[in-house]
Amino acid sequence: MKFTIKTDLIARIPADIITLAVNDKNQILCEKQIDNMTLKHLNKILKLGDLDKRTGSTLLVHGSNTYSRIILLRIGVHKDLTPKQFFKGIVSASNELKNINFTKIIFPINQFVNKFITEQATTEYLVRALIDQGYIINSLKTQNKSKPANFQVYLHTNTSVTKEIKQGLKNGQAIGKGLDLTKDLGNLPPNICTPTYLAIEAKKIAREYKMKVTILEQKQIEKLKMGSFLSVAKGSREAPKFIVLEHKKGTKNQKPIVLVGKGITFDAGGISIKPSPAMDEMKYDMGGAATVLGVMKTVGELNLPLNIIMVVPTCENLPDGKAVKPGDIVKSMSGQTIEVLNTDAEGRLILCDALTYSERFKPEVVIDVATLTGACVIALGHHISAVFSNYNALADELKTAGEKALDPVWQMPMTDEYQPQLNSNFADMANIGGRAAGSITAACFLSRFAKKYNWAHIDIAGTAWKSGNAKGSTGRPVSLLSEFLINRTTK
Ligand code: BES
Ligand code: MN
Ligand code: ZN
Repeated sequence: MKFTIKTDLIARIPADIITLAVNDKNQILCEKQIDNMTLKHLNKILKLGDLDKRTGSTLLVHGSNTYSRIILLRIGVHKDLTPKQFFKGIVSASNELKNINFTKIIFPINQFVNKFITEQATTEYLVRALIDQGYIINSLKTQNKSKPANFQVYLHTNTSVTKEIKQGLKNGQAIGKGLDLTKDLGNLPPNICTPTYLAIEAKKIAREYKMKVTILEQKQIEKLKMGSFLSVAKGSREAPKFIVLEHKKGTKNQKPIVLVGKGITFDAGGISIKPSPAMDEMKYDMGGAATVLGVMKTVGELNLPLNIIMVVPTCENLPDGKAVKPGDIVKSMSGQTIEVLNTDAEGRLILCDALTYSERFKPEVVIDVATLTGACVIALGHHISAVFSNYNALADELKTAGEKALDPVWQMPMTDEYQPQLNSNFADMANIGGRAAGSITAACFLSRFAKKYNWAHIDIAGTAWKSGNAKGSTGRPVSLLSEFLINRTTK
């Protein structure tokens, strides 16, 4: 997909398709800029009433002369159009494009801009949504491959090429690249996307964007006394890796933002083994790691003037004669001991050591991202990720970024009353807190390792991937975190 900003009169841009906004009164917003014959043709079609009245609906029709096809996009009352409705419309328009042959499409930008959606946001949403929707998964298919969306997009503006439009395009493309990487990593099978594979991916990013990469191996991890992380890795023959990727483009004394991602490349549950149905989906248990790697890609593309450090503990969670067992007590890097009552609560066991390790960076904030609990899916479903924090201002900042990026999070409580659920008779804590409030007690567990800095935890168990016919990674929350970081550059 190629994007070009165009300032010519729309009628002068040669293209097969144009996307036209239609308001609640069935008026085409750019009617003055398209030829009479096309307009007449479209007005006839609009009279038929086939374009759904609901905002965000689209209708693909054949053109009469200038364009072979036209996408009509319902925007309702123009001044009331919200980013969410607009995004829905663009997603719907992208879907219309999936089964047709064409090479060039025009999206006039100005027809969407209002007080809720700036020129820059319009461009960014458009570019990001088109890349996101154009994503295909067929890396390992030998037959019936879907063909990649390979068309030219003309972003048309009535004004000149403003800084805002350019920035919107740049951001949209950079986030698009991050999303693509995150989705690829998630969708790859667990026999390919191993801890070693993730380490190689981090090295590639480091090389491409001149970041610093450190891959800690088993021996070095032992030296750091990450007994909790290593206990999870024990049941697997894949070597665990502890990946650190540093982007240092902020000022020297600017404290870094640390992004931690859960990198379980397959979660069978260990000795507390999971039931077989849909177990394949536990290849997505590295969704947190995939997210932070994708975000680093975006960060590199935009060369953000910030200090950002990515930390990924990665291994498999499998049953084995050497695997960690229920009842085992392990010692974390922090020195706190943990009674492993359920080996399937492994995410927190690898993250706690990564959180302790992060102290050395004297971070401004630490944000971890993890497919942590099934309970989170029960609480929030598949639309909104959960955020927990020991610092409300950070949770608020993430909520705002999520809303703006249309990649929302909802703050969950994490008050002290929940902590005793983690009590153990034999160690400093247990790794599970019972059925009640499962996603909260998981966050409470992590909070015990994040006392030295401002920290937020994002549980993406319900949002990182889709099951069923549309099975595949969503790339969430790459957009949210990218937005969060971009916002920080203007502070
Ligand atoms: N990776 C899973 C969480 C998960 C389950 C994410 C289903 C998405 C869908 C995690 O490691 C896990 O197994 N958690 C357990 C914790 C429990 C044993 C306290 C869970 O949620 O069942
Ligand atoms: Mn598990
Ligand atoms: Zn897991």
